[in-house]
Amino acid sequence: MEADIKKLLKEALEDQKEIFGDLLFTGSIAANQLSGSSDIKVTEKLGMEIGSELFKEDFQEAKSIEELHALIKDCQKCPLGKTRNKFVNGVGNPNAHAMLIGEAPGADEDAQGEPFVGRAGKLLNDILKAIDLKREDVYIANILKCRPPGNRDPQPLEMETCIPYLHKQIELINPKIILCLGRVAANGLLNKKLSLGDLRNNVYEFNKIKVLVTYHPAALLRNPGWKRGCWEDVKKFKKLYDELLTN
Ligand code: URA
Repeated sequence: MEADIKKLLKEALEDQKEIFGDLLFTGSIAANQLSGSSDIKVTEKLGMEIGSELFKEDFQEAKSIEELHALIKDCQKCPLGKTRNKFVNGVGNPNAHAMLIGEAPGADEDAQGEPFVGRAGKLLNDILKAIDLKREDVYIANILKCRPPGNRDPQPLEMETCIPYLHKQIELINPKIILCLGRVAANGLLNKKLSLGDLRNNVYEFNKIKVLVTYHPAALLRNPGWKRGCWEDVKKFKKLYDELLTN
C-alpha cells in the first residue's frame, strides 16, 4: 500500500516536472505559466553552429543518413554503450520535410532498435494520423541513441556526447520544421532550460529550421487530460508545415 502511494507520488512529481521544469508546482506558478495566449507569439533565433571544424570526426563526413548510421551504430563514447541492447538510430523518410525528436529509447526501442515503437510510439502514430501524416512521411529521432537504464532522465554528459549525432541527422535530413516531444527533447535541441509551458507557446529556430514543442506521448498516456493541449500544438505544427511546403 505504502509502496503504491510512493509510486503514484513519484509519477505525479515527474509529470509536474515535465510541465513546469524545475519550478515546484503551485497554483500561482501554474496560472502564471499557463496564462499566455496559445497563439504562436515569439520567434527566437539561435545562433548555434553545427559540426565545428575543430573537432571533426568521421561521422561528420557522412553524406547520407545510412552512411551516418553505419558510422555511429557501435558508439561507446558514454557509459550507455555498455548497458544498451540496441543503438537506436532514426527512422522514417530521409527526404522528410518534418522531423520529430524524442528524448531517449525506452525498453521496446532498446529491444527493437527503432524509435517510438512501444505504447508511446503507437500514440505518436495516432497523433500523426490526426494531422494527416504518416510515420513514413516524417523522420523520427531521439536526443539519446541509447536507453538510459530504468528510463531515467538523460544525464547532461550523455546529452552532450550524443547530441552531435542528432545535429548531423538534422543536417542530412534538412527538414523545414521540427516538432520536439517533451521538455527534455526541446531543451536538449535548443540548449535551453525552460519549462514545457514556456516551450509550447513559442516557435523557435534551430539553424533556420522552425521548431515547435508539444507534450511527450508517454506523458499523455499518464495524463490523458493533456491531449487537448497537444491537439492545439500539433494543429499549429501542421499549419506551419503546410505553409512552409507551399512557400
Ligand atoms: N520515448 C522517447 O523519447 N523516444 C522513444 O524512442 C521512445 C520513447
